[in-house]
Amino acid sequence: MAGWGPFDLSGKNAAVTGGAMGIGFGIAQRFIEAGANVLIADIDDQAAQAAVPKLAGGPGKAAAVRADVSDPRAGEEIVAACVRHFGSLDILVNNAGIFPIVPMLQTTPELFDRVYAVNLRGLAFCTQAAAKQMIAQGKGGKIVNIASIDSLRPSLVGLAAYDASKGGVLMFTRNLALELAPHGIQINAIAPGGVATEGVAKLTAGMPLTAEQQAEMARTSVARIPLGRMGVPDDIAKVAVFLASSASDYMTGEIVVVDGGMLLT
Ligand SMILES: NC(=O)c1ccc[n+]([C@@H]2O[C@H](COP(=O)([O-])OP(=O)(O)OC[C@H]3O[C@@H](n4cnc5c(N)ncnc54)[C@H](O)[C@@H]3O)[C@@H](O)[C@H]2O)c1
Repeated sequence: MAGWGPFDLSGKNAAVTGGAMGIGFGIAQRFIEAGANVLIADIDDQAAQAAVPKLAGGPGKAAAVRADVSDPRAGEEIVAACVRHFGSLDILVNNAGIFPIVPMLQTTPELFDRVYAVNLRGLAFCTQAAAKQMIAQGKGGKIVNIASIDSLRPSLVGLAAYDASKGGVLMFTRNLALELAPHGIQINAIAPGGVATEGVAKLTAGMPLTAEQQAEMARTSVARIPLGRMGVPDDIAKVAVFLASSASDYMTGEIVVVDGGMLLT
C-alpha cells in the first residue's frame, strides 16, 4: 500500500492468536491497514467471527478460526487455516494470553498449568508450527510475541504464575531467534505496560471494589506512568507492524518495551 514504505505488509499473510479483541484485534486492524491478510485465531469463536466484518474495508482481508492455543495441535490448525484462506503464512503474532490475579499462596497446580499452557507452551508450539511452514515456504518470516513488562519486573502481587510465564516468553524468544536465524525468520517480543482492553476491564469489574475504589485504583495506576495515560491497543499494534515488516529486518531476539515510560520509574 502506498505510503507505508518499509512498514508495508502488502502480499503478506498473518495469523494473530487471541485476535478477537483487545491488543490482538488492534494488531489485526493495523496489519490489514498496512496491506496484510489476517487470520484471527481465538478460543472465543463467536467473538472471532464477529471480528471479521469489523475488519472489512481493506486493503487486507480478514478470516477467523476457533483455536485454543493451549491445545498442542492448535499451531498446526492455525497454519492450515491461514494457508487455506490466504495461501501462505508469513507472519505469526503470538498474542493470546490470560492473566488471572491469584496470590501464589492460593494458586492450585491446575491454575498454574493453565497459565503456562496458554501463555508459554501455547506460544511455543504455535511458533513451532509457524516456523515449519515458513521454512517450507523458503522465504523467511516474522514472529512477534506479546510478552509483558512483567517479563522484566513484577507489577502486581497475584501475578507470580503469569510473570513466570511471561519471563519464559522473553527467554524463549531469545533462544528461538538463534535457532530460526539461519532460516531468515526473525522473532521479537513486545512488552506492553498497562493497556485498556476487554480482558483488563473484566478483571477490574470482577474485583470486590466500590466504584470510588475502582476510580482511585485507575488514578493510582496512571500516576505511575510518565506519559500520563494508560496504553490503548493501537499503541502496541503500531509497534507490531514495525516488528512484522521489513523495517525491523536486522532485529531478532529483541524485546521492545511499550509502557509509556512506566519501567523507568
Ligand atoms: N492489557 C494489558 O495491560 C497487557 C499488558 C501486558 C501484556 N499483555 C498481554 O497482551 C496479550 C493480550 O492481552 P489483552 O489485554 O488484549 O487480553 P484480552 O483478554 O482483552 O484478549 C485476549 C484474547 O485472547 C483470547 N484467548 C484467551 N485464551 C486463549 C486461548 N487459549 N487460545 C486462543 N485465544 C485465547 C481471548 O478470547 C481474547 O480474544 C496477552 O498475552 C497479555 O498477557 C496485556
